[in-house]
Amino acid sequence: MENKIQEIKKEALTELENANDLKSLEAVKNKYLSRNSEFNNLKKGMKDLAPEQKPVIGALINKVWNELENLINEKNDIFYKKELKEKLLKEKIDITLNGNYIPMGHVHPLTQTVNEITEIFQNLGFSLAKPKNSPEVELEKYNFDLLNVPKEHPARDVQDTFYCDNLENVVLRSQTSNAQARTMMNTKPPIKIISPGRVYRNENVSARKNNLFHQIEGLYVDKNVTMAQLKGVLNEFIRLYFGQARPTRYRSSFFPFTEPSVEIDVQCIMCQGKGCSVCSGTGWLEILGAGMVDPNVLEAVGIDSSVYSGFAFGMGVERLAMLKYAIDDIRLFFNNDERFLKQF
Ligand code: DAH
Repeated sequence: MENKIQEIKKEALTELENANDLKSLEAVKNKYLSRNSEFNNLKKGMKDLAPEQKPVIGALINKVWNELENLINEKNDIFYKKELKEKLLKEKIDITLNGNYIPMGHVHPLTQTVNEITEIFQNLGFSLAKPKNSPEVELEKYNFDLLNVPKEHPARDVQDTFYCDNLENVVLRSQTSNAQARTMMNTKPPIKIISPGRVYRNENVSARKNNLFHQIEGLYVDKNVTMAQLKGVLNEFIRLYFGQARPTRYRSSFFPFTEPSVEIDVQCIMCQGKGCSVCSGTGWLEILGAGMVDPNVLEAVGIDSSVYSGFAFGMGVERLAMLKYAIDDIRLFFNNDERFLKQF
């Protein structure tokens, strides 16, 4: 038995000597000091020894076991440190290298335009209408009835309104003018608000038209509000928005909720007024409708039209952005093509 122990020890020492990394060291450890090792089997065989031999052999096995274990641990320590050092050297990080480029997102050009226009009107003393006064899913009452557009009026068709199939009198609003009706219903004059938002129309989609677009509604109601003030405010808006005087023209027009009504055109930026496909050859692009609030509208919402007057306007956000940045297709705003978006 003693011989066997010495033999195993010798063998183990030779293998230990030859082990030159953590992996081979681990193999030696498994071979000699694990539960299934030959050495351990010797321990198990001790029960068959003569009683006086048991303590002697037991002590010897323990001694050799401890010796081997210490040697393995020592070597393990050395190999571990060596391999760690090599690994650290190999994995050295060069912090001066360029990082991976992660592009920053930014605000969509339409949102930028809305923000810019909102700021201009806020500086002119207008405040933002309450969101609850500007719902996108709307009753016909606010989208049409209170705005002096009776049931059989062709304007309901002109705006190609989307009606809800299963809810009577409910529409996707065709204009932000619903905010006028709602605000006047629950606010006492003086009222001086703007209200940006989405509107929906059943259009044939083209370079100039989309089913969904954005408008900014404006409303000023007070004593002695005049058409001259309307012109002053809108001219100032155009000057501030385009950053320079742009050829502009007022055309008389008709809206059921204003009397008199006007439309404002700005010279087409694409052709400088010569006429192109974007402006249908006219050289002009309409940017907004406006007028003096019809007394019928004031009365319908409970405002005394003999005391108060007002002006209102509604402008197309996409149109204004297209004119400013020379964008020739409204669909670009909605396609989420990065090549387009990242220019803004
Ligand atoms: N709501 C009209 C449209 O979508 C635009 C408009 C015209 C708004 C005149 C107004 C206004 O507030 O006074 O075509």
